[in-house]
Amino acid sequence: MCGIVGYIGQQQAAPILLQGLSKLEYRGYDSAGISVRNGEEETVIVKSKGRLKVLAEKTNDGLAVKGNCGIGHTRWATHGEPSEQNAHPHASEDSSVVAVHNGIIENYQEIKEKLEKKGYVFYSETDTEVAVNLIDYYYKKHDGDPLDAIAKAMMRIRGSYALAIMFRDYPGEIFAARKDSPMIIGINNSDVFIASDVPAILKYTRNVYYIGNMEIARLTCGNVTFYNIDKEEIEKELTEIKWDEEAAEKGGFEHYMMKEIHEQPKAVRDTLNSMIKNGSISLSDAGLSDEELEKISHIYIVACGSAYHVGVTLQYVIEDMARVPVSVDLASEFRYRQPIMEKDGLVIIISQSGETADSLAALREAKEKGVKTLGIVNVVGSSIAREADRVIYTLAGPEIAVATTKAYSAQLAAGYVLAVQLAKVRGKINEEKYTEMIEELLMLPDKIAKTLEDKERIQWFASKFSNAKDVFFVGRGLDYAIGLEGSLKMKEISYIHSEAYAAGELKHGTISLIEDGILVIGILTQQELYEKMISNLVEVKSRGAYLMGLTVYGNYGIEDTVDFSVYVPKTSKYFASSVAIIPLQLMGYYLSVSKGLDVDKPRNLAKSVTVE
Ligand code: G6P
Repeated sequence: MCGIVGYIGQQQAAPILLQGLSKLEYRGYDSAGISVRNGEEETVIVKSKGRLKVLAEKTNDGLAVKGNCGIGHTRWATHGEPSEQNAHPHASEDSSVVAVHNGIIENYQEIKEKLEKKGYVFYSETDTEVAVNLIDYYYKKHDGDPLDAIAKAMMRIRGSYALAIMFRDYPGEIFAARKDSPMIIGINNSDVFIASDVPAILKYTRNVYYIGNMEIARLTCGNVTFYNIDKEEIEKELTEIKWDEEAAEKGGFEHYMMKEIHEQPKAVRDTLNSMIKNGSISLSDAGLSDEELEKISHIYIVACGSAYHVGVTLQYVIEDMARVPVSVDLASEFRYRQPIMEKDGLVIIISQSGETADSLAALREAKEKGVKTLGIVNVVGSSIAREADRVIYTLAGPEIAVATTKAYSAQLAAGYVLAVQLAKVRGKINEEKYTEMIEELLMLPDKIAKTLEDKERIQWFASKFSNAKDVFFVGRGLDYAIGLEGSLKMKEISYIHSEAYAAGELKHGTISLIEDGILVIGILTQQELYEKMISNLVEVKSRGAYLMGLTVYGNYGIEDTVDFSVYVPKTSKYFASSVAIIPLQLMGYYLSVSKGLDVDKPRNLAKSVTVE
């Protein structure tokens, strides 16, 4: 996820681009850049690593760069670490094409190799530079027609993109193209804008065009023309944006957390698509070969917070499916307990930020002991990503709300893919089961989206419990792992004390805490443990608990036992956490909202804990 902007008109472009980018920093903030054209003069490109303010200082808030036409970008690295070199805009070899890009070009490696054979040389590690040179290639091959070159490149590229492009031979024009990545075109008299998202241009206009998939726009001062992929002109309706600025930044949601909850189908889909190609798993981007996976004698998962809960889930999944022994540790414990690690073991560090101090220390500890390490990380180029021997990136994009949702879901997805591949290379599942697991995985995004449709019921239920003092989550097996995360979501943002218990442990203490009206949330996605769970729920009910049951569609008999039931779509038993967590995230969210709390920034908590 990155942010792009563009401007053409009668004003100076650079300050407008910087202002627009400042509203898109939520989409990425590891580096930024602008490219501005002053009439016939050569395009000037200024880029910098770090937050946008570094670029603002470098350009004197844009005043140092002259010209009425330009494009800008704020980056969230997906290919290539955050650096000035990898920052956008990118230029073709002789600078005849300059562009910014948001999205992921899946076949960039293949295109890059083809272009290299034709003599193209690349200076960055980005997929964007590949797209720019591909456009340049078609532009030069076919009579210098920008529209034609872009359309040909679009046919060749697989993946998602929003591109804003300038051609040296066409001063005073910007081209835009998109597929599956957001982009809008705004207009106000002679000023024309491009942006990934509404907040970037709200200061200047509320009149926008939505550019459709596989469409191209040609912008000149005061005018936009749209084309389909066959270069035929198409008509578009102007839409008036009615949101205020703050609402627009959150995509119309009241809080970032809610926005991120809704981004989960995409986060999971993008992560799965980066690891599953043409129906089979490829971990080559992470540098993990089948031989390596075959040899692993023990997996040690180490993480903090929600990432630790992903580890607990993966322990169940990997041990059951791939029959590899797995231990899970909190990083703060692992680093000081002198863990015994087998030399053919693999230490997996799971971290959204890649900067959590304890997780980083645990990684270093493992490396010092000579054990191979794998990071499952969301932030490209972060410390854990750099220091781990191997990295699998989750493609959740930047997460702003302190309480993680979409990064957690993307971590689960990445872990599942790893589990399936481990099971396959170690002969624990046959070809048929392997295909079935992959199909199940690819259905998860839609099932998550379907679960989100039921949010009003959760909202209603949460409103009844905003005064609760204690809430208990109970489950067995994987449902216990989901409970841990559901409980954390609830306590961290609603400040209601909550605990998750393995349901079989209730009798060993917790049951004495059950009083009349205490909310107990039972999670029952694991069919073979269903009956046992029902017995546990009956036990707490007879002590006065108010019961919510979370299970899969079909288990309607649960209504005989619980007071309120929530159903989620059926999945493979291994992947149930991904759908069952959704109502629990919503529950925490709505409780926090109904108590009037600061959902996105809960007291005393930080998004990334970089101190011990
Ligand atoms: C903080 C965040 C949690 C996160 C944990 C680990 O406590 O609030 O949401 O799970 O850190 O962070 P990491 O960046 O390593 O995943």
